Amino acid sequence: MRQARPADLEDLLALEARCFAQTEGLFNRRQLRYLLASPHCAWLISGRFEGAICLLVAGNGRGRWGRLYSLAVDPAHRNQGIARRLLDASFAWFREQGVAVVRAEVKSDNRAARRLYASLGFEEQGTLPDYYGSGHPGVKLYRRL
Ligand SMILES: CC(C)(COP(=O)(O)OP(=O)(O)OC[C@H]1O[C@@H](n2cnc3c(N)ncnc32)[C@H](O)[C@@H]1OP(=O)(O)O)[C@@H](O)C(=O)NCCC(=O)NCCS
Repeated sequence: MRQARPADLEDLLALEARCFAQTEGLFNRRQLRYLLASPHCAWLISGRFEGAICLLVAGNGRGRWGRLYSLAVDPAHRNQGIARRLLDASFAWFREQGVAVVRAEVKSDNRAARRLYASLGFEEQGTLPDYYGSGHPGVKLYRRL
């Protein structure tokens, strides 16, 4: 597992396109390039596990809370504990940053992600109507560190 580098841009854009629909808040090329170059406001991990590419974007905000912006694992390499490892690594980073609460949003019908977050101690805090577009609600999540 390592910090993503600017040279990973094309791989990460392709991964996002494979993992998310346009309505799910994909990062575009400009945003991802900015994030890759800005370790102070966001953190990305790209791991390669036997060819898998995965991504986690976490921001440490300005206070004692942090936010998970994106999480994706190459479809060919799912169900091997990679997302769990990425999130565990982000918790360690958040703690180093003095973050006390992590927030995230997930699409209501994304059962895999909701189960993943629940298994890691996230609590659901209410719904966000139309958060992912008309008729596509989200769920707010938080976890104390
Ligand atoms: C959600 C996602 C990141 C999970 O990645 P992964 O590496 O396969 O997940 P892990 O192998 O670490 O699984 C950890 C836990 O997540 C849950 N989980 C993962 N995939 C699941 C599935 N298909 N169905 C139900 N639960 C699932 C389980 O609780 C699992 O623990 P278990 O194996 O002990 O039951 C991956 O499916 C993905 O990239 N999906 C598309 C993008 C996305 O939805 N991102 C999240 C947006 S917030």
